[in-house]
Amino acid sequence: MPFDSDRAFPVLTDPFTLDPSWTFLNHGSFGACPRAVQQAQDALRARMERQPVQFLANDYEGLMDAARDALAAFLGADPEGLVFVSNATTGVNAVLQSIDLGPGDDVLVTDHAYNACRNALDRVARKAGARVCVAAVPFPLSDPAAVVQAIGAAVTPRTRIALIDHVTSPTGLVLPIAAIVADLQGRGVDVLVDGAHAPGMVPLDLDRLGAAYYTGNCHKWLCAPKGAAFLWVRGDRREGIRPVVTSHGANSTRTDRSLFRLAFDWTGTADPTPFLSVPAAITFLGGLLPGGWPALMDRNRALTLHARDILCQALDVPPPCPDGMIGSLAAVPLPDRAVDFVPRPPLLLDPLQEALQDRARIEVPVMSWPRAPRRLVRVSAAVYNHPGQYRALAGHLRAFLADAGQAPLNGPPPACH
Ligand SMILES: Cc1ncc(COP(=O)(O)O)c(C=O)c1O
Repeated sequence: MPFDSDRAFPVLTDPFTLDPSWTFLNHGSFGACPRAVQQAQDALRARMERQPVQFLANDYEGLMDAARDALAAFLGADPEGLVFVSNATTGVNAVLQSIDLGPGDDVLVTDHAYNACRNALDRVARKAGARVCVAAVPFPLSDPAAVVQAIGAAVTPRTRIALIDHVTSPTGLVLPIAAIVADLQGRGVDVLVDGAHAPGMVPLDLDRLGAAYYTGNCHKWLCAPKGAAFLWVRGDRREGIRPVVTSHGANSTRTDRSLFRLAFDWTGTADPTPFLSVPAAITFLGGLLPGGWPALMDRNRALTLHARDILCQALDVPPPCPDGMIGSLAAVPLPDRAVDFVPRPPLLLDPLQEALQDRARIEVPVMSWPRAPRRLVRVSAAVYNHPGQYRALAGHLRAFLADAGQAPLNGPPPACH
């Protein structure tokens, strides 16, 4: 029987509140939160605003503990080492600002790192007089072992910590994180894993992974409300790690819970409902398909591979990485950007991304990587996406590139409608 891609993937749009007039292919940047999870958050907010002192002074700790326990079970993490933060950027900053770096130390990062987190690393290194060593990870690539090799080759006798993405942002690669952590930590280099995209995209077992530090977002592939993320710290590193903001916990005399938890669980008055809605998100997403979370992750991955095939055919390029390095993001190389192009503020979008938005109402990122004029288009595949959306993207990409005199002329036109 021929493969009917339109029937191969269960598609669920109703649980989401996305504007149907847009083709939304960028769950990876800012994912959609389902209506049911928004409602769970609304109920928590309403409860908070009925009696704010009861909620924030009395109920808060128990609610935070319950949310933490649910997330810890999902992540395979000891809840004692798990704290909520507002986003992965904050998790990365908390760790980097807590460790003692000194002159002559080296810190390690790859050239696929997320710009905001790289900035955080550069800043602490500059302050400490440490050196930032950048491992060049090949892309396109055909073997995940090349990543372990490239990162390992950048280690020096003075390397203190490595900031390594689990899933890279510009290139959408699921890195072989267990092998990287084993290799680096085996050589005495602590690893801070930036797992911004990983929870809900790939199965996690943080205790088993054993990285010194792991931060991840709940507001991407777990579909929790914006402002929900976590930091997990291994037992032997917890004592020294503190949040970016110092608050009451710092001089607490309580002995019923760790200073680590006390410090992170209260960083000043804020809306905790994104954190408290994480259990609702885990339960709701896990109930969408009969096979639960494993089926959802498998479905998104299969659709991503299918989407990548459509784009590679349309752009006449080979798949830039092995299938095993794909989760629910895929980046495909595009013809270089025109060298004389000056992006328009405030968003500084690539002209292709702007054309896709303005002329086709397609939301998809076109990223300069490793630097302009080189660029990639990165698609996401969430449960509300379907194959026809990638065929439409491929058709528009070809048309807009042809308009710009950059058509991938050798390949056959895609079967797009
Ligand atoms: C690898 C990586 N790290 C960190 C972040 C930052 O996430 P947030 O803005 O939620 O802090 C992102 C966002 O896409 C990312 O892709």
